[in-house]
Amino acid sequence: MRKRIVGSSWKMHINTVEAGEKLAREIVEAVAGESAVEIFIMPTFPLLPSIIEICRNSKVGVGAQTMAEAENGAYTGEVPAPILSEIGCRYIELGHAERRARYNETDEKVRSKTHLALRYDMTPLVCIGETAEDKDAGRGRVKLATQTLWALDGLSSQQQRRVILAYEPVWAIGQADPADPAYVHDTHRHIRDVVAREAGEDVAAAIRIIYGGSVTAGTAKDLFRSDEVDGMFVGRGGLKADLFRRIIDAAG
Ligand code: PGA
Repeated sequence: MRKRIVGSSWKMHINTVEAGEKLAREIVEAVAGESAVEIFIMPTFPLLPSIIEICRNSKVGVGAQTMAEAENGAYTGEVPAPILSEIGCRYIELGHAERRARYNETDEKVRSKTHLALRYDMTPLVCIGETAEDKDAGRGRVKLATQTLWALDGLSSQQQRRVILAYEPVWAIGQADPADPAYVHDTHRHIRDVVAREAGEDVAAAIRIIYGGSVTAGTAKDLFRSDEVDGMFVGRGGLKADLFRRIIDAAG
């Protein structure tokens, strides 16, 4: 049985220390007692140490929104895996559409970062998703297959099982509504088929594929009706503790 997981990347929506620490405290409080669902939040880098402290001994894991592709060296401005692991980061978001589009986060870099995250005992959360142009041109599925293969390439089966794939159709991020639940169900099945062909049935049965893109407290329940959907990855929907809690409740 795959454990459902709900997490939120705050992106740069939270831009003061005070607001970030306050939201983290409210989330810890809102999810106290929750046990069936794995929960995580991803604030910006400078907030990580204090928020990891706030979330200690709670149900909330903390992750980073990106990470350097190398372990050390001349990478001005980048943040290396060993430090993130040392301070208590448990998840690393990789390949988000915004980072692919604006910061040249290629599949090759995502692959290196996935390996590094696992080496430092952090869970890689790899975002994959087709653009509107890919979809219109009928190449959405091949794009997803390619991104999935890169994410899992060169890992042992045991490591592959630890990866979380976040399916985020680029055209559904930052919109009023998420993608249609039936479309999400079919696409998750396609991604799982790709994993089965590449990594075997056992890995495909174990790996978690979660959905992201304009999920709200109101729409999560319909998306969770599919047994192919192992979780939600939210942006704006995670910025109010009570609404985030309702998305978590929809998973149960
Ligand atoms: P959104 O962001 O929920 O605000 O659409 C989702 C994401 O980019 O992960």
